[in-house]
Amino acid sequence: MKTLLFLFVCSFTFNLYAFDAGKFFKTNCKSCHTIGGGDTVGPDLAGLDKRRKVDWVVKFVSYPEGMVSGDPDEPGYEKADKLAKKVFAAYKPTLMPEFSMDKSQVKALFEYIKSTKKSPKGKILKIK
Ligand code: HEC
Repeated sequence: MKTLLFLFVCSFTFNLYAFDAGKFFKTNCKSCHTIGGGDTVGPDLAGLDKRRKVDWVVKFVSYPEGMVSGDPDEPGYEKADKLAKKVFAAYKPTLMPEFSMDKSQVKALFEYIKSTKKSPKGKILKIK
């Protein structure tokens, strides 16, 4: 019985803190990004799941400046990322601020973007 109660409490707290991608997007990303509404400060994120890999997005949101310019002092960001450089060149001068998102959260964001069934518009479509 104690084990059951423990499991119940765990699943309850897990649900309480479950990551809500839609809410997270509205609070943290919507000021600069649309999903299917075209470019604003940053690129339209519709179709992100089709054009970028989960790991690339995790790395990019964690440290955009490191991806765009390279940082010899930061492991994994020693060299600038070619794709991130091109994206920045199209949307400069604003450089995206840093966010901490893990792989499961980016996966949830991809699912959320898919669920909107929107197609991207704007300059981002030309960046390969
Ligand atoms: C202050 C504005 C701003 C906010 C807030 C912001 N971004 Fe960005 N984002 C940008 C800009 C500008 C770029 C493109 C240029 C750059 O910074 O490299 C970008 C680029 C991106 C890219 C690359 C897109 C591609 O197709 O290559 C991703 C992914 C991204 N943002 C995700 C997010 C997520 C997720 C959030 C919320 C957690 C977020 N951004 C919040 C401004 C913002």
